[in-house]
Amino acid sequence: MKKTVLVSGGAGFIGSHVTVELCQAGYDVVIADNMSNCDETNYKGVCAILSRQLPFEKVDFCDAAAANALFDKYHIDAVIHFAAFKAVGESVAEPLMYYKNNLDSFLNVLEAARSHGTHVLFSSSATVYGEPDNPPVTEQSPRQEATSPYGNTKQMCEDFLRDCVKAYGMHGIALRYFNPIGAHPSALIGELPRGVPNNLVPYITQTAIGKRECLSIFGNDYPTPDGTCLRDFIDIVDLAQAHVCAVTRMIDGKMEEPYEIFNVGTGRPVSVMELVNAFEKVNKIKLNYRIAPRRPGDVMAIWADPALAEKKLGWKAKRSVEETLASAWAWEKRLAEAGK
Ligand code: WQD
Repeated sequence: MKKTVLVSGGAGFIGSHVTVELCQAGYDVVIADNMSNCDETNYKGVCAILSRQLPFEKVDFCDAAAANALFDKYHIDAVIHFAAFKAVGESVAEPLMYYKNNLDSFLNVLEAARSHGTHVLFSSSATVYGEPDNPPVTEQSPRQEATSPYGNTKQMCEDFLRDCVKAYGMHGIALRYFNPIGAHPSALIGELPRGVPNNLVPYITQTAIGKRECLSIFGNDYPTPDGTCLRDFIDIVDLAQAHVCAVTRMIDGKMEEPYEIFNVGTGRPVSVMELVNAFEKVNKIKLNYRIAPRRPGDVMAIWADPALAEKKLGWKAKRSVEETLASAWAWEKRLAEAGK
């Protein structure tokens, strides 16, 4: 009997890639999304990659009754919760919108999971570590005061999951992502930022394709080897495969604690400048960029110690930065061909 996974926010960048990997690993997947932050591109791409229509439910998880009805309609063995707003800067300007949306939606998912005996996998973020004193960070590294309402919602949702596991005998895993980049090798799904991209790689690819005039590199005067910030850029397919390992760990009853946290990163620090140079080299493109002032709130250096995920999930990032940047560029070219 195939197990069923509900992917909330499944029409988005990470949700769609996780859906593909889950299906290819033998799970049945129900995609639920309110489509507030994406269009049908990735859902159609997922169906094209899998050569079949997946069950899709248009649901706003802030609607408790609608969220619960999903768990009544389908027998859900595990839910992966992606449905949330995720723009750091926007969250500073609109804290109420972020707290209501990101917290209400997860609380409704937890309530429904509790009453239906469903395992919960939460999409967390390395942002919970703030500016680490000595990277790489392990899961035991202290969380630091959130620097944005967005980051605060990630910390609060981790605590909601932890407390529900303790109180109600549920099982939950939080995956702390570092910087997901790239696109599926088919170039049928990828990152679809709305408006001007906040994140580095979509800004690079949009500059390379001519949608943006010039990439601004936010600061090259940091005390780092080349003066630009250091990050742990992880391929989106590697990230998606970590979710399959985590869901399988829960469903197969292999968890050692009822609440577990894993860093999902490569363990490889790469600077902004190194990433730009790698993009130019692998795609044979000269990128138009300038050095701009530092961006407020930016962390100077953070990367993962991914040893725990390797040991307990049997997962390790496999793809090189070059391979990932080639996939990001192929996706941007596909979007341009489609007039997007
Ligand atoms: C990376 C580096 C920028 C854009 C954020 C969220 C995090 C997660 C990933 C959701 C920084 C520099 C960027 C540009 C630049 N999101 N940069 N020019 O800030 O590490 O993480 O996205 O979970 O929670 O905080 O990612 O891609 O925005 O920036 O120089 O046009 O690239 O200064 O050093 P970040 P990012």
